Amino acid sequence: MIVNTRGPEETRSLGERMGRLLEPLDVLCLRGELGSGKTTFVSGLVRGLGIPAPVQSPTFTLERVYRGKGIVLHHFDLYRVAAAHTGDVGIEAALQDPSGIIAIEWPESGDVYLPGDRLDLSFFHSRGDARRIRIEARGQRPRKILAALRRLALPLS
Ligand SMILES: Nc1ncnc2c1ncn2[C@@H]1O[C@H](COP(=O)(O)OP(=O)(O)OP(=O)(O)O)[C@@H](O)[C@H]1O
Ligand SMILES: [Mg+2]
Repeated sequence: MIVNTRGPEETRSLGERMGRLLEPLDVLCLRGELGSGKTTFVSGLVRGLGIPAPVQSPTFTLERVYRGKGIVLHHFDLYRVAAAHTGDVGIEAALQDPSGIIAIEWPESGDVYLPGDRLDLSFFHSRGDARRIRIEARGQRPRKILAALRRLALPLS
């Protein structure tokens, strides 16, 4: 599935719609250049999961944890984490969390920990504030989420 968004609010809205469909043990990988909208999308996920907007920590962190009712969103950003160190950042532990939904930005160095069943999202800059977002489903459960998202996703605003 490919979605074109015209500004951050549309990307957030797409994330929100996906967030409503997610359940514990779902895993999302978010790839794409700096500033292509990955974190903006995750802020939409948080909203869609019904988690009240948290205060953003100003410090650089590898993992942010957002707690909702019966679900926990583990949001990783592995930018510049060397592959040799991803064992330290808690991905394995998060994957064991029975209430956990996992979203990983810059997953490349954590590849070895990733389950085969997952949603792969790729973000591309387009002209100005436009972004192109490609969503691919690997496995049965992700395919179900994507099919549901197709019915929910358009129009974005
Ligand atoms: N259509 C759009 N979708 C998402 N963000 C947009 C869009 N248009 C403009 N922006 C802006 O681009 C920036 C995207 O930043 P964001 O932190 O989401 O990117 P990122 O992919 O997470 O980058 P990084 O790799 O540095 O973590 C924000 O400043 C946002 O307001
Ligand atoms: Mg980011």
